[in-house]
Amino acid sequence: MFLWGTSISANQAEGAYLEDGKGESITDRLPLGKERFQVMNEPGRWAKKKFDNYPSHKAIDFYHHYKEDIALLAELGINSFRFSISWPRIYPTGLEKEPNEAGLLFYDKVLDELEKYQITPIVTLNHFDTPYHLAENYGGWAHPICIEAFETYAKTLLTRYDGRIRYWIPCNEINMAQHIPYVGAGLMLDREKNPEQLKIQAIHHLLLAHASVTKLAHEINSENQIGCMIAAGNTYAKTANPEDVMLAIEKDRESYLFPDVQIRGNYPAYFLSELKRKGLSLTVSDQEQALLSEHTCDFLAISYYNSRMCSADCSKNQDLSSGNVFATLKNKYLEETEWGWQIDPIGLRITLNTLADRYQKPIMIVENGLGAKDRLTDNQIKDDYRIYFLQAHISEMEKAIADGVDVLGYLSWSAFDLISASTGQLSKRYGFIYIDQDDTGNGSGRRFRKDSFFWYQNFLKHTDIQ
Ligand code: BG6
Repeated sequence: MFLWGTSISANQAEGAYLEDGKGESITDRLPLGKERFQVMNEPGRWAKKKFDNYPSHKAIDFYHHYKEDIALLAELGINSFRFSISWPRIYPTGLEKEPNEAGLLFYDKVLDELEKYQITPIVTLNHFDTPYHLAENYGGWAHPICIEAFETYAKTLLTRYDGRIRYWIPCNEINMAQHIPYVGAGLMLDREKNPEQLKIQAIHHLLLAHASVTKLAHEINSENQIGCMIAAGNTYAKTANPEDVMLAIEKDRESYLFPDVQIRGNYPAYFLSELKRKGLSLTVSDQEQALLSEHTCDFLAISYYNSRMCSADCSKNQDLSSGNVFATLKNKYLEETEWGWQIDPIGLRITLNTLADRYQKPIMIVENGLGAKDRLTDNQIKDDYRIYFLQAHISEMEKAIADGVDVLGYLSWSAFDLISASTGQLSKRYGFIYIDQDDTGNGSGRRFRKDSFFWYQNFLKHTDIQ
């Protein structure tokens, strides 16, 4: 069965941030607006500051609306739904001996609802949701305590939901640890003396934890399918100048590093050489190497929002585009969203083909969508721009399938308008379902079906890909 669905994450949807025993997550410390980037960049410096608005605290209150929301998903006609479990809802500081039963009960009920409508769950274990306690007191994933804490958390879920959840993605966009180390790995590098070295340490710990959870998942149930995930999107060279082409290869390797280990089972030579060049070290014991080589993933999950472009020429004033936290040059052949993300549907086909050639594994597209300002008028939302965006990307995915790429599923981002990970805005809307709420959390919270809702519903009834 081809998985047609949509995705959300706990910290962007649930709200109820300290309810029923939940602890604080790293994202619960991210405020709305420009200061959000300051905290992401210098989390140590801003740790003590109190802000007026933390969007994840309320989000779209999926915690209390899950029944109504899942009923809407069933009406939409999707057969799969990716959501994340909030790590600090289950282990509030990450270090408790026993899980928080009230937190688990919430996910029991979410699964009950999904089963009622025969919607397949795809579960992310950590979507930018490391317990804040681990970041503040241990420096996040640079400390090995996170590996053990994550294994305990994962074991709790793999055991409790054995047979109910088959698709597991241990870590959302693991390559974000390179670009936004606080969000991706709970690192507070502005407090540290040797930040680059600590980042390498954290990446190693994330990869070890990933392999260990993959091992555990396969031991608990051989039917479990484990996906590693990156924020994907090929880098184009700005010109045919070989220097630009080489730089594009290097940029892509920043992301490939992760599935190179998680699927191929070894740290790639280019990465080890780069460490040497930079005077950084990585020690991998024989036992760790065996874990990494023997417990690789079953599929590759990707988010795809845009391609990137680079140039080796630093002398000129290069025109930058914002993109999904990756610095990228503006590509004159592409249009941009209102937030400056370049729109490149063919880039999805290119990316799928590249990744399929490189890894020879099935690929699941778990995020793809358009953040835009929608207007609610007479209870209607005319979001034809979103329909065009999704249509164009799905069509390129279909071409990639015709090229021979083994695509497991397409899950849009997102079913609902929710908190933007980068800006904290709700007004950067991605959903098929409009939430009547503004950036500061005011509004009725009522759900409205957008035009794109009816379009996707109709598309799912008629698509040949089943
Ligand atoms: C992905 C994340 O990087 O991009 C999501 O996994 C995020 O959490 C999505 O919401 C879109 O980014 P943004 O910043 O527009 O919300």
